[in-house]
Amino acid sequence: MTTTEKEAKGDMKNLVASIGTTLDRFISQRQQEFPYAKGELSQILRDISLAAKVVNKAIMGSGLIGIEGPAGERNVQGEDQQKLDIVANVRFIRALTRGEEVCAIISEEDEEMIDTGNHDAKYIVAMYPLDGSSNIDANIPIGTIFSIYRRKSPIGTPPTVEDVMQKGANQVAGGYILYGSSMILTYTTGFGVNSFTYDHTIGEFILSHANMKVKELGNIVSYNEGNYNDFSEGTKAYLTYCRNQKYTARYVGSLVADFHRNLLKGGIFFYPATSKAPNGKLRLLYECNSLAFVIEQAGGKATNGKGRILELEPHNIHQRSPLIIGSPTMVDDVMDFIKNEHFQ
Ligand code: AHG
Repeated sequence: MTTTEKEAKGDMKNLVASIGTTLDRFISQRQQEFPYAKGELSQILRDISLAAKVVNKAIMGSGLIGIEGPAGERNVQGEDQQKLDIVANVRFIRALTRGEEVCAIISEEDEEMIDTGNHDAKYIVAMYPLDGSSNIDANIPIGTIFSIYRRKSPIGTPPTVEDVMQKGANQVAGGYILYGSSMILTYTTGFGVNSFTYDHTIGEFILSHANMKVKELGNIVSYNEGNYNDFSEGTKAYLTYCRNQKYTARYVGSLVADFHRNLLKGGIFFYPATSKAPNGKLRLLYECNSLAFVIEQAGGKATNGKGRILELEPHNIHQRSPLIIGSPTMVDDVMDFIKNEHFQ
């Protein structure tokens, strides 16, 4: 980090944004804190928020226009349907490509890295356009998860896979959008975590949760009980400890929803290594890393059971990782129970 960046970081720690500020104004205010910034990152965040509004509209209307189900079916008007997760993928890729500040995208929906053609752009986006999509047709909250990185290859050249194979600690921004009873956009650029709730009457995201901090010790435990028999002995012992502590169990099955609730109320989410899935289920580059960046900025922790998520070196763009994330004391407790286990 350069001296200028360190100075900016010091200043930013003292910055307190007012509840009620629009996302657009917040982004502009924050950009003024970086004399060296040219506004590209701000533009990407605006592009993401625009795509989120379009996707939210599609989600809200999906029950009526029939795009919850599988692609290839016909809706009540006899029109070809596009699955909602495909709609979301197209909308985010389009917004990020037209914004011209992103040279490459990796998406859960696409096998290969996408070259946007913006070879003069210096940023990369990794995203899960619609996470928890198996919940869509049950009207359960779902989300978008994103990470933004600086490219490694020279500006003006086509992006390479090495540009996207970066550890999470290199993120310049990370966050998520939760499509729930309200739409909420939460992100960090490494200067704290802020959440913006969408006011549909004026079409704006409004700062609703400033400088968020997760509880040191919560009482919510989120995991899929159906995997219990495949958990390690240490994980099972931790769950017995949770029962003895009288923690409460909450599991939506949509990572963004489970994560956001635990961020607000304090708790732990885990999708650990199991005997059937030693690498876990969740994706490192566009699920684990983004949320690990957010939780650390909120005072929490994220680990794969061996070490910090943000330090993991990726070797595949769709790589999976175990994820244990949330209130710091709870993550430490899990680590104590599983520290001598070998799962990879
Ligand atoms: P998908 O988008 O395929 O529905 O995956 C959802 C992810 C994540 O959002 C959630 O935390 C996890 O998978 C749930 O997995 P289980 O159903 O195995 O518990």
